[in-house]
Amino acid sequence: MLILGIETSCDETAAAVVEGGTSVLSSIVASQHDLHSEYAGVVPEIASRAHVEAVLPVIREALEGAGVGLGMIDAVAVGNRPGLIGSLLVGVAAAKALAWSLSRPLVGVDHVQAHLYSGCLSSDGRPPAPAGFPALGLVVSGGHTSIYHLDSWTSVRRLGATIDDAMGEAFDKVATILGLPYPGGPNLDRLASGPDADDRALDFPVSRLGHGSLDFSFSGLKTAVLYAVRGVPGDDGVYPRKASGLSEADRVNVGASFQRAACRAVTLKLGRAAERARASGVRYATLLAGGGVTANSRLRRELEAFAREYSLALHLPAMAYCMDNAAMVAGLAHELLQAGRVSTLALQAEPTTAV
Ligand code: KG4
Ligand code: ZN
Repeated sequence: MLILGIETSCDETAAAVVEGGTSVLSSIVASQHDLHSEYAGVVPEIASRAHVEAVLPVIREALEGAGVGLGMIDAVAVGNRPGLIGSLLVGVAAAKALAWSLSRPLVGVDHVQAHLYSGCLSSDGRPPAPAGFPALGLVVSGGHTSIYHLDSWTSVRRLGATIDDAMGEAFDKVATILGLPYPGGPNLDRLASGPDADDRALDFPVSRLGHGSLDFSFSGLKTAVLYAVRGVPGDDGVYPRKASGLSEADRVNVGASFQRAACRAVTLKLGRAAERARASGVRYATLLAGGGVTANSRLRRELEAFAREYSLALHLPAMAYCMDNAAMVAGLAHELLQAGRVSTLALQAEPTTAV
């Protein structure tokens, strides 16, 4: 079964063709980074206008890359929530038009759940073993930081989420504090991975929240980094130091120490979730992780170690599928279709997730 996926929830216009739910025949992502970089963040109006211009060429490129014609597509999938409403509307309108004109099923997909699926994709013809359930899920991106319990691809329950910044947002903000260019996450990762980086140079706080809480908080960590770099502001709100006064070695060490604390927060909460499940007789078979921050080199190593410690089969996306893409949308749609989850042409774009 060939599924065309379309993804326009934020600032990437993406289309992909996926066969059998796991084999990615093509995955095209048109980034809008250049359009937004001067604002150091995504401007919704600019994003939706850029989607309108890019969506059809990107779909055409995905079909050409897969070597298939539109008539060979068996279903059309689209990320219809959550995201920027103007951006989502472009993908949803394109998907509806294609599904209707081709008389093929339309499948609305939750973008956050699609991130959970991204570790089940393969582009080398060797798909990972199917995910075993129950599974523990983790999504860490620029907009989301959440932990899930999954009994199947259609039974997903959120166990905890960030109460303030998303993890990727914290990376981006700390990168800005350290004077790194947008998008900050990958640049901070590179800075902190240098051979001379000392990740214990500063002891930044790892937020635990209440006893047993599975929620996250990154704003305290971000503020601790800000104060470490610029000092504590006086009553007049003025910081005693400029970030430009920081030596290169200090910048590297602040970045590495931040990254250590941020990753520790994730493994701490995953550990709590696994222990809580064990205590109630549930043994997770799998850890499903996804979202832009799973591209982080340190987090990838720590998730691998965590999965080994708890004997979980780890489904970590290949680098190409960590960030927003349409292959994860088409892949999850295959599972939803198998479960009879077909959408109608009344499918709505929705700014919030249902899980
Ligand atoms: O999943 P994604 O493409 O978009 C959302 O759905 O939000 O995630 C983008 C986020 C950005 O905050 C970006 O800085 C972060 O993922 N990111 C990283 C890395 N690569 C991307 N954060 C840390 N280390 C990385 N290597
Ligand atoms: Zn995303």
